[in-house]
Amino acid sequence: MKFSNNMDKSTPPEPSADFFIGNIPVFGDCVLAPMTGFSDPPYRFLCRTFGSSLSYTVFINAMDVLDKWERTLPDMLFLPQERPFLIQLFDNDEDRILAAALKIQQLKPDAIDLNMGCSTRRVSGRGAGAGLLKDPAKIARIVHRLHTSLDIPITAKIRIGWDQDSRNYLDVTRAFEENGGAMIAVHARTREQAYSGQADWETIADIKRNLSIPVIGNGDVRSVEDIQGLKTETGCDGVMIGRAAVGNPWIFQRRRREDISREELSTVLSNHLAAMLTFYGNPKGLELFRKHLVRYLEPENISLHDRRTLLTQSSVSEFILNLAGLGYNLSLEDPEGTAGLSGLPF
Ligand SMILES: Cc1cc2nc3c(=O)[nH]c(=O)nc-3n(C[C@H](O)[C@H](O)[C@H](O)COP(=O)(O)O)c2cc1C
Repeated sequence: MKFSNNMDKSTPPEPSADFFIGNIPVFGDCVLAPMTGFSDPPYRFLCRTFGSSLSYTVFINAMDVLDKWERTLPDMLFLPQERPFLIQLFDNDEDRILAAALKIQQLKPDAIDLNMGCSTRRVSGRGAGAGLLKDPAKIARIVHRLHTSLDIPITAKIRIGWDQDSRNYLDVTRAFEENGGAMIAVHARTREQAYSGQADWETIADIKRNLSIPVIGNGDVRSVEDIQGLKTETGCDGVMIGRAAVGNPWIFQRRRREDISREELSTVLSNHLAAMLTFYGNPKGLELFRKHLVRYLEPENISLHDRRTLLTQSSVSEFILNLAGLGYNLSLEDPEGTAGLSGLPF
């Protein structure tokens, strides 16, 4: 975070924004990526307390917003401290995207993010997610309609093209910007690559050179050094971190995982598990916590047998006892007594 050069020692310096989404200031240049199954409200909020500067929901199907509203609501809950808060939508149908965005606007997010990156066959195969990249004219129409119909900014998350022969990221990003798009996040792989090969950071630099709106770089940021590396190589305004942030919220503090003590890890495990139990209830909160736990414990020296015991434990109290036996002391106020989906704050 940058600070203005305030010479008056009696007043604290005003923090200055790292970049803006429309006229919304964003303080901080690292952002937790939307990740279905991981960046849910508890983990989003935890990462914000560590320095992630924006909150994205996971991708939400516009059809579900229109037909199964209640089911989509939990993913769209947020704390006031989580602003700027972006709700991410995906679909291939222009009218449905607009109708869903208008409905979502009632929840008062700070922006609506259009997913143009999902590579799965189920989504991209029907022209949604990365499937939209094939048709920049359609992107232009969608963004124009959203921009002229909504009161909040439109952002997008893209890949760099459908495949190696159609890396049309400049057509896509220009169509997005020219029609009112306010910020773009770029996962620097094609749809064909899915998660294979290496993210091509040079494409992020190319987009940054050609656009005036903020550009968030994404793909293969695995370490604290990579954060600065991506910024320096591309000039991007922000850095989005996905897989490397799972089990490692300290990356947003620009601290190395190997420097985190057992005590600090235990405190974060306590807070994260407590938030999961409050949000999802017991036992769902514990069950969903397991995949985070695997990642938290990856760098720790724990036998396969002990890991297995932990990951199959269905009682929260036993789970905490197991962890204590391994030297990780969690303190939860009321481990078994949480209600779940009791709303925020957790
Ligand atoms: C398990 C998982 C779920 C994801 N879900 C979403 C999603 O809902 N919306 C989205 O835009 N990207 C999603 N992504 C893509 C990430 O946001 C990110 O672009 C990608 O993981 C590359 O960044 P990384 O190398 O830092 O992981 C997902 C990725 C993973 C691994």
